[in-house]
Amino acid sequence: MRLVVIGASGLLGREVVRAAVRRGHAVLALGCTRAPAVPPGVETGRLAAGDLAGAERMVLDRFPDAVVNASALSDVGACERDPALARQANTELPGRLAQLAHHVGARFVHLSTDMVFDGTRGPYRSTDAPAPLNVYARTKLGGEEAVMAAGRHGACVVRSTPILGNTPGGDRTPHERLFLDWKAGKVTRLFAEEVRQPVSAPNLADVCVELAERGNLSGIFHWGGRDAVTRLELGQRIARRFGLDPAGLVEGVSHADIPGLPARPRDLSVELHPLSGKLRARPQGLDEILDGLEVPRGCEDWWRARTGGDVVRRLEQGLDF
Ligand SMILES: NC(=O)c1ccc[n+]([C@@H]2O[C@H](COP(=O)([O-])OP(=O)(O)OC[C@H]3O[C@@H](n4cnc5c(N)ncnc54)[C@H](OP(=O)(O)O)[C@@H]3O)[C@@H](O)[C@H]2O)c1
Repeated sequence: MRLVVIGASGLLGREVVRAAVRRGHAVLALGCTRAPAVPPGVETGRLAAGDLAGAERMVLDRFPDAVVNASALSDVGACERDPALARQANTELPGRLAQLAHHVGARFVHLSTDMVFDGTRGPYRSTDAPAPLNVYARTKLGGEEAVMAAGRHGACVVRSTPILGNTPGGDRTPHERLFLDWKAGKVTRLFAEEVRQPVSAPNLADVCVELAERGNLSGIFHWGGRDAVTRLELGQRIARRFGLDPAGLVEGVSHADIPGLPARPRDLSVELHPLSGKLRARPQGLDEILDGLEVPRGCEDWWRARTGGDVVRRLEQGLDF
């Protein structure tokens, strides 16, 4: 299958490229400001922010069998600061890509977020009414609507939970950010009342590629891990996973402790049905997800000094591309 991955320089997009290559697909991997780092033999390119004409040329030149859109302005603070850019990246581009995919008869798989809900009554079903609390979430919901409006048949929206994984820079994912704090001598304050259901980047990537391959699934779906935990518990379990004592590294904090805190969703746990019963990919438990995490690049010496452990890099994680 000829597959185009947009947002291939990002956390998830990089794993989607790897999953697609493993499954024998011919991949074009597109970044925006960064060139994607890809396995040998994968073609790469860039799609500049706001370049809808470039998106059109790319799809009409290639006539792909499927497009996976893992691009987004995913930083919640950046979306608040520049709502127009957020709308362009999270609503307008997905809508145009979905129209183009529909036009050439390509499958379209688009990533959205559990944050379309306000967190007042999780676990959420994919049919529950969204109620986004911030610009990121509102523009992502706009993206879902634009994708479905372009043609429900042949398009999937996958609402993901927070993504755990390893990145080449060692500074993107939750455990990498925790390590950066700890290495800097900080105690990380984590919300004890916020419930999330993390997923691993490779597992979510497998789901995206499987959906790209399957002609009989379309609509809005939820995907995450099997286990919902508080952010505090997640931080504690990450510390323990690496042989570290959570006391002195993480501490619980409550929304009420922070004056002027913008509204934040409390419980964003999700039901994985019906997708979980329809795919070969299986939702992972948190222990399995944590087992796939590595000591982040740049934190090896700090971790060795703290634990006396050896940093083991799994070759198959291939962080160099
Ligand atoms: N990370 C999470 O925990 C999480 C949780 C739930 C849902 N999601 C969703 O999952 C998807 C993947 O997220 P991620 O964490 O992998 O994102 P990420 O690491 O921030 O990567 C975003 C990607 O989008 C590209 N991009 C940014 N602005 C763009 C624009 N205007 N036009 C075209 N490309 C643009 C970036 O390119 P450059 O870097 O080259 O500029 C990068 O490749 C997104 O839809 C996100 O909303 C993520």
